[in-house]
Amino acid sequence: QELQMNLEQIEKGGYDHFMLKEIYEQPDAIRDTFRGRMLADQGLIKMAGIDDHIDKFINAKRILVVACGTSWHAGLVAEYVFEELARVPVEVEYASEFRYRNPVIDKDDVLIAISQSGETADTMAAIKLAKESGAFVFGVCNVVGSSISRESHAGAYTHAGPEIGVASTKAFTTQITVLTLIALQLAKKKGKISTSDFHTYLKELETIPEKVAEALTTNDLVEKIAAIYKESKNCLYLGRGFNFPVALEGALKLKEISYIHAEGYPAAEMKHGPIALIDDQMPVVVIATKKGHYEKVVSNIQEIKARSGKIIGIVTKGDVDVKNLADHVIEVPETIEFMTPLLTTIPLQLLSYHIAVLLDKNVDQPRNLAKSVTVE
Ligand code: AGP
Repeated sequence: QELQMNLEQIEKGGYDHFMLKEIYEQPDAIRDTFRGRMLADQGLIKMAGIDDHIDKFINAKRILVVACGTSWHAGLVAEYVFEELARVPVEVEYASEFRYRNPVIDKDDVLIAISQSGETADTMAAIKLAKESGAFVFGVCNVVGSSISRESHAGAYTHAGPEIGVASTKAFTTQITVLTLIALQLAKKKGKISTSDFHTYLKELETIPEKVAEALTTNDLVEKIAAIYKESKNCLYLGRGFNFPVALEGALKLKEISYIHAEGYPAAEMKHGPIALIDDQMPVVVIATKKGHYEKVVSNIQEIKARSGKIIGIVTKGDVDVKNLADHVIEVPETIEFMTPLLTTIPLQLLSYHIAVLLDKNVDQPRNLAKSVTVE
């Protein structure tokens, strides 16, 4: 028993929980994801999984993305990034819905299946369906040699290293990193972005690990905020554009490990319903980074404030406007808009982690959940 405990302590590398260790591993995990694939100095991306099948991607009339849970959120970020950069239509589906709704799949479609474990039953079934229709299937998995990686025609691993915590953290940011590399490569090959923009983006992506490390320095502040809101019964997460999926992911993290009811919404949807929930008992986490409809998000924040909601703003370093309105602000470094999810996600992971710890919940193995869902 004692030996077992010691072994686990060693595996946690000095952290109290695997989840916290994995949150802190993200700068290295993201670096590992683009190592050898992105040569920023030479202005090159080399990814065999893409380069060997580039015609499939270039000729695709649309890209279908299937996944579950956090991986589905990474797919939603990818939708925004692919459409922005590569100008190809993208549809993102829950694998469990896709597999049972007789979807229209064309042989020219490219289906990207995203799965940390590579074993999720619904995602696996969606792949089978796509293959039967003649579509090209590309897997984005973390676990090497997993079923989904073997069933796909081609793929790219995330190289995040083992993720033990049931709540997915580094798998999410590395999935976004891989998908961003693919979108950039496709955009370049299709001639949708200039060589100079391509170089600028690669250079910026190279700085993301340092910026994630900087975002992690908000930990103590986030812990203090967690202590204030830990007894909340509900929590809203709002974001727009590239950060709308981050709002969904922030809410999922809180639900999973603290058992507090949380909902993510596109900020502008608030007035179509959720605004009715806002009172002085409701914490609202708003992702309000510079650019990306900033002014519109600021006006959403004013609407929350007018109803006495408690505002926790995730803002760009040096922000003034949100700081004047919000109850708390957590700063992340500035980056190119489509890369902001890699930074804004960090404080949301920390917030759910600290609330769960303060509530004495089982952070690494939350009730009712399994790390990989191999049954439907
Ligand atoms: C994430 O925190 C969840 N535990 C869960 O939603 C997970 O992302 C989902 O089950 C998909 O798993 P996969 O990436 O291994 O396919």
